[in-house]
Amino acid sequence: MLQESGIGIAMTGCGSAVPAAWLDNTGMSQLVETSDEWIASRTGIRQRRLAAPTESLRTLATQAAQNALDMAGLVATELDLIILATSTADDLFGSASQIQADLGATKAAAFDLTAACSGFIFAMVTASQFIRTGTYQTILLVGADVLSRWVDWSDRRTCVLFGDGAGAMVMQAAESDRFLGFEIRSDGSRNECLTLAFQPQPRELVNDIRVGQGSFQPIQMNGQEVYRFAVKKVPEVIEKALFRSQLTVEQIDWLLLHQANQRILDAVAERLGIPAHKVISNMGKYGNTSAASIPLALDEVVRAGHVKPGDVIAAAGFGAGLTWGAAIFKWG
Ligand code: ACO
Repeated sequence: MLQESGIGIAMTGCGSAVPAAWLDNTGMSQLVETSDEWIASRTGIRQRRLAAPTESLRTLATQAAQNALDMAGLVATELDLIILATSTADDLFGSASQIQADLGATKAAAFDLTAACSGFIFAMVTASQFIRTGTYQTILLVGADVLSRWVDWSDRRTCVLFGDGAGAMVMQAAESDRFLGFEIRSDGSRNECLTLAFQPQPRELVNDIRVGQGSFQPIQMNGQEVYRFAVKKVPEVIEKALFRSQLTVEQIDWLLLHQANQRILDAVAERLGIPAHKVISNMGKYGNTSAASIPLALDEVVRAGHVKPGDVIAAAGFGAGLTWGAAIFKWG
């Protein structure tokens, strides 16, 4: 089916990159009072990759991006736009331009987009609008986060959950349309459920002129609230996106959710009536990599040959903001 504009969208490549170092749950239990049994049974996570101080968001994101370009058979100079979904940029002014430079994507505009763990879905939707309007033909999306920088490593309720990584995807204008429908949502009134907030300390400059200087506080999360929110809102948003795609749940080949917690994946799949063999899951190896988790999981199943061109994927992200969203697309 072609959209009104007559411009279709194809997903032509994906890639990923993770740090070399990993910490398993047994190692985690040397850091905080926890156990492999507690973490694995509550979350499905068994280990996570952690970026060394010498690694950066930039290096991981650029590697994932290059892998996606290679799969798409493109060179970087063919890119019109780069969107980096991240909450942990190396530079608060944005890291997308650094990736643009490292790739040599000299013709591409580049910007960061922040929507926490929904960031990659929000980036897909943003890219789709540039393509539909005919503005751009070839867009690189990267989802990358290094949350290990911002976790309180003495807080067992949060530090066991997160890992670092990057994933990427190329979206291109095409004759037949494979980006079928989407829905994105936000509810800032519940912002306090999950924060990585700046804490200003007043500093007097001259006379009565004060500014707030300080630093970001570690991740704070109300786990049970986030769990309830995800299990209720994610099925709703997938159903809305499916309706827009004129598809039914039975026509989904793969459910690709943000990899936060296996129990959330199981509960969402059950509510939608999607069998377990259609649910993509790799959080056991990587933990919750925030904006990276969807393209990282996609890249693994595409390269393993499980997801084939034309397969219908229902992807959904959810997280801080609060934000949540779904995109239905055919791979390839
Ligand atoms: N090891 C051992 N015990 C722990 C640990 C741990 N790592 N963490 C918490 N506990 C203890 C608590 O202290 C508590 O003990 P108490 O009863 O003596 O006080 C007990 O376990 C139960 O704690 P709960 O917080 O109620 O545990 P729950 O079953 O809710 O599981 C979890 C916690 C896994 C965080 C769950 O709430 C969850 O998955 N929520 C969703 C979180 C999520 O997905 N966040 C990310 C989404 S957004 C984003 O990606 C940025």
